[in-house]
Amino acid sequence: MRVIMLAPPGAGKGTQGERIASRYGVTHISSGEMFREEVARQSALGERLSGYLDRGDLAPDDLVLELVRDRVITAARESGGYVLDGFPRTLPQAEAAEEFGRQTGTGAQAVVYLDAPPDVLIARLAGRGESRADDSEAVARHRLEVYAKHTKPLLDYYAGRGIVITIDAARTVEEVSQAIFRALES
Ligand code: AP5
Ligand code: MG
Repeated sequence: MRVIMLAPPGAGKGTQGERIASRYGVTHISSGEMFREEVARQSALGERLSGYLDRGDLAPDDLVLELVRDRVITAARESGGYVLDGFPRTLPQAEAAEEFGRQTGTGAQAVVYLDAPPDVLIARLAGRGESRADDSEAVARHRLEVYAKHTKPLLDYYAGRGIVITIDAARTVEEVSQAIFRALES
């Protein structure tokens, strides 16, 4: 089971990514979580990343790929699959992922697109409380714009490959999970 989650901030990539990973026994890989850990550790990489995270801008593709590529390949080989949460997020990242996927036989088989309207997304991010600095209303709105400009176009890219599953994510966590499992298993 090798799945990419493509969805705007607040749609439930993290929430559903964990549920998918636990149901199918594969590795959940969240690029955002990896980056926040680097920032918290105050590593050299974390220092390069923190400004992007604080502003809600995308980190540079080469930095992202450097951190994520090996994890993805290792997860596919060692746990039998992955759920990618937050990667790929730009066309160059998607092309790079496709290329290393082809070279290593670890390419994604499905893209789960979690669809929800902006007011639902903003409410969920605000509702997460103070736990993430980039959930302030201004930065959350900016993250949605960045998503619309750089990430949403990937839907067409993957639709062209015939692997997109669209899920209505404006439902309860359990309903969304059941819809995802049904789609992945059919
Ligand atoms: P990232 O960590 O990926 O953040 P994001 O895309 O903004 O998404 P979130 O984590 O906020 O939302 P989510 O979809 O995971 O939803 P969640 O399950 O938490 O990225 C952060 C930053 O890292 C980026 O801005 C960028 O700077 C950098 N970055 C990361 N990857 C990158 C890349 N590939 N390239 C470049 N830069 C990159 O749910 C949200 C809330 O809603 C939670 O409180 C949850 O409990 C609740 N909730 C979830 N589902 C439901 C439901 N069905 N009903 C009610 N509540 C729900
Ligand atoms: Mg998340």
